[in-house]
This record gives sequence, C-alpha cells and structure tokens, in this order.
Amino acid sequence: MASTIGIIGSGLVGGSVARLAVAAGHNVVLSNSRGPESLTELVQELGPLARAATVDEAIAAGDIIALPVPLASFEALPTDKLAGKVVLDQTNYYPEFWRNAELDAGRLTSSELVQRHLKDSLVVKGLHNLDWNHMYSNARPKGDPDRTTMPIAGDDATAKHAVTRFLEAVGYDVVDTGSLAESWRIEPGTPLYFWPYAPAVPDGLSADEEKRHYLEHPVPPVSPQTARQMIDRAKRPSPVGGTLAGMPPAHVAIFMELASANTVNK
Ligand SMILES: NC(=O)c1ccc[n+]([C@@H]2O[C@H](COP(=O)([O-])OP(=O)(O)OC[C@H]3O[C@@H](n4cnc5c(N)ncnc54)[C@H](OP(=O)(O)O)[C@@H]3O)[C@@H](O)[C@H]2O)c1
Repeated sequence: MASTIGIIGSGLVGGSVARLAVAAGHNVVLSNSRGPESLTELVQELGPLARAATVDEAIAAGDIIALPVPLASFEALPTDKLAGKVVLDQTNYYPEFWRNAELDAGRLTSSELVQRHLKDSLVVKGLHNLDWNHMYSNARPKGDPDRTTMPIAGDDATAKHAVTRFLEAVGYDVVDTGSLAESWRIEPGTPLYFWPYAPAVPDGLSADEEKRHYLEHPVPPVSPQTARQMIDRAKRPSPVGGTLAGMPPAHVAIFMELASANTVNK
C-alpha cells in the first residue's frame, strides 16, 4: 500500500531513503535544516512522487518519519510535532564527530537516547547499518535470490510492523532484534553492522579501481537466519560507537570527497 515517508535530513542517507521509497511507489516529503529551496535538484531527480518541505511539513505529511540526521542534532528535533509518529531512527554514534557520556558508558543505546527526547514518538531503529550507496544498490524485490536482510529494533509492536512493511516494500527482508535497549546488538562494531553489506576490496588496486570495486562489486545476501545468528552472537561493543578508521578506504574517500564538496554536513 502506498504511503508517505517524511524525511528529516536529506543528505547521503536521506537521498537513498527517498530513492528507495519512490521506486516502491511511496510519496516522499524531504526536509533538511537549510530549507526546501536547497532540495530542488534532488526533488527534480526523484520525480513526481517527491516534494521538498519544511521539517514540520514533512512530519505532518509522513506516515513514517525517517531520521537520517547526525545523532548530534537529535535535541533539535521537535518532540511535540513528532508525538504519536512512527520514527525510523537511522542515526549512529560516531564519537569522533560528537561525544555523549551516557552512550560512552553504555548506559543507553543511541536509539534510547533519541526515544527519550522524542518521548511521545514510536521510535524504531533500522536502515542504519549499511552505507548510503549499498542502502540503495542492495535492495531487491521479494523472492529475488539476492535479497538481503535488515535488522530493526523498537519498543512498539505496531510501529515495528509499519517499518517492517516499509522495508519489505523497498527491497529487504527484516528481522526483529528486540527492544531499543537491545539495539546495541545492531550498533557500530557488531557483526551485522556495515560489513555484511559492502564488498571486501582486494589489495593492490589503484584508488579508482578500489572505488569502483567498492561501489559496484556484488555483495552476497544475508539470509534472515544468518542475520538472526549474527544478532544473537553480538557482544556489547567497548568502546561504544563507530569510527571512520574502521571503514574501507574507498568508503572514506567517497565520503570525504562529498564532504569537501560541501554536500554533506556531519
Ligand atoms: N553516510 C552513511 O553511509 C550512513 C549510513 C547509515 C546511517 N548513517 C547515519 O545517518 C545519519 C545521516 O548521515 P548522512 O551521511 O546522510 O549525513 P549528511 O549527508 O551529512 O546529511 C545530514 C542531513 O541532516 C540534515 N540535518 C542536520 N540537522 C538537522 C536538523 N536539526 N533538522 C533537519 N535536518 C537536519 C542536514 O541538513 P542540511 O544539509 O540542510 O544542514 C542534512 O540534510 C547519521 O546519523 C549517520 O550516522 C549514515
């Protein structure tokens, strides 16, 4: 069933979510911190199912609100406007960009932190554990032998059901990790984070070849059974949080290129 996805944050990940949603026949309303005018080009590229709006308008229009913003900006999100909404939390904790003592101490997962701020929203963690390029390129229709599996976590069964249906429609099988308190099992540094969705790049390639291999080489799918096993065998990461130093050089190179072109805003 077609629905509307409100997107707060329209950078690398927001663009991928919008592309996935539009390809599956959903409407999308994109927003960012600079305002709708800054999204004209992206909206044109996405076509008639997409429009740009203010954050408040994207929230009002969305059946699900995707949250691909830097975690550091979570307190700027309007708690009142997001009350009652299903919020797909795509944020990750990268202490090199922003530090939080409660997260460092493992007292909360990053999605619990977001849920505590969005106290009346139904937060579901998901579509956070692979890079923006593979988020789009790994998607496959139901029944395709290369369809891979995404984990989610959340405290509300109805919200998890809505997000599951969305992810299934855009191209993924889904496994439920459990509550937001359990979502450390799918945070950076756990088995199901990043590496199962990106190709290993062989040694000895030039920078250009490495980049091409990283972007284009097929990635074997993760079955729901394997995803479940990876969740079950996860150990709580220490120290908490991801680091760019742990990412493939080709990923970091593309990221830095886009950052220096000022198209990303960490
Ligand atoms: N990059 C990846 O491959 C990847 C993969 C999975 C998950 N993630 C996570 O997804 C999140 C976004 O990453 P990204 O790489 O897409 O970042 P990005 O390209 O820098 O995009 C961030 C977006 O958030 C917007 N934004 C920031 N603060 C905002 C606010 N208060 N209200 C509304 N919009 C706001 C920015 O708007 P302006 O540009 O107008 O300031 C921008 O559109 C991060 O938490 C990251 O850890 C990233």
